[in-house]
Amino acid sequence: MNALEATTRYFKRASKLLALDSKVERSLLIPFREIKVECTILKDDGTLASFVGFRVQHDNARGPMKGGIRYHPEVEPDEVNALAQLMTWKAAVTNVPYGGAKGGIGCSPRDLSIHELERLTRVFTQKIHDLIGVHTDVPAPDMGTNAQTMAWILDEYSKFHGYSPAIVTGKPVDLGGSLGRDAATGRGVVYALKALLADHGKSIAKQSYVIQGFGNVGSWIAQLVHEQGGKVKAISDVTGAVKNEAGLDIPALVKHAMETGGVQGFQGADALNPNELFAEDCDVLIPAALGGVLNGENAKDVRAKFVIEAANHPTDPQADEILAQKGVIVLPDIYANSGGVTVSYFEWVQNVQGFMWEEDKVNRELLRYMTKAYLNIKEMCNSHSCSLRMGAFSLGVSRVARATMLRGWEA
Ligand SMILES: NC(=O)c1ccc[n+]([C@@H]2O[C@H](COP(=O)([O-])OP(=O)(O)OC[C@H]3O[C@@H](n4cnc5c(N)ncnc54)[C@H](O)[C@@H]3O)[C@@H](O)[C@H]2O)c1
Repeated sequence: MNALEATTRYFKRASKLLALDSKVERSLLIPFREIKVECTILKDDGTLASFVGFRVQHDNARGPMKGGIRYHPEVEPDEVNALAQLMTWKAAVTNVPYGGAKGGIGCSPRDLSIHELERLTRVFTQKIHDLIGVHTDVPAPDMGTNAQTMAWILDEYSKFHGYSPAIVTGKPVDLGGSLGRDAATGRGVVYALKALLADHGKSIAKQSYVIQGFGNVGSWIAQLVHEQGGKVKAISDVTGAVKNEAGLDIPALVKHAMETGGVQGFQGADALNPNELFAEDCDVLIPAALGGVLNGENAKDVRAKFVIEAANHPTDPQADEILAQKGVIVLPDIYANSGGVTVSYFEWVQNVQGFMWEEDKVNRELLRYMTKAYLNIKEMCNSHSCSLRMGAFSLGVSRVARATMLRGWEA
């Protein structure tokens, strides 16, 4: 089952739990707009290269559409479509006034020079500039993109529309980015984890952790958990996996990864077969890399008590059922990784108001949003006797459905 089918399936279950009218259900499911553009650039060696860029704008009932832009070889329309839909429910779960969108370019950013990446980003922006906007659709970074990518989009968009810092979030602080945005998704995961563990009478300090992915999200989670006394036993990334039963020295691993490009070869740990990562004995397993990594094959081997979905769609529905049967508690992506979109919202608010916040305020507000969302999800779980995933989906879908019906259907 691909990401689109899985997301649609959870949406339909939520719609049934909420007893939504079938016409409302259909209207919520169909994307507002799907954009596909060809991006041709001159490579550094003088040859031409063509890439396909996508932007799916899913729903705008609750506000401007919001979502990341990823650069990855496996970016394809169905996946982007599913992730756009997830963004709609995610923004609604944390109650930020946004709809959902997602985009990407099918490319391998590691194989492109910085100049080629800049040209590609500018061409993509030229192709979509009249379809995005401060009150229409506001892109953000995702896998394979970063603050620099957002700065290029801001610059290119501003050539057409005048200086517009609120057109993207996750941009450099020097261009109006929010303090705390870089860490926001990882920090939000840790706040979500804190709320979940507290609900089970536990704290971050007493648990052991295994994390897949050591990029923006994974490395912040590792650092924050480590700072709070948690024991991070194993971490993998695209270069390999490392393990230390006594707990990895995370600051040293961050330094190693920055110097060498990945976790492989870290001196303070043993090498681990990345395929065996999910079977490691731990309290909390955190997939923070790719979608679909926990599946019908490997879910039975999971020994963690909690799975925290920091990545988007890391657990396929078959794995979800196996984990539920094993009594593993899964904290779903639409809530767990919503810290990014929440602080993106704070960044956009600061740009629109022209008034910037201290980092302390950003983190305090993030904690407030994440904690409140957890309580709202639990209320849904209690009233519908459902899992955290279905509680979160029902919460998000119910808020979008209410906004859609309140806005009405008159043409
Ligand atoms: N960055 C955000 O604000 C944000 C917000 C919400 C959700 N997410 C999701 O979190 C996930 C990670 O995003 P990110 O921003 O950290 O991306 P990133 O590009 O910074 O890092 C991705 C990490 O995954 C690793 N990786 C790639 N392929 C792998 C493989 N086969 N096995 C193990 N590790 C592998 C990479 O080496 C890297 O460490 C994605 O699913 C993304 O959609 C990110």
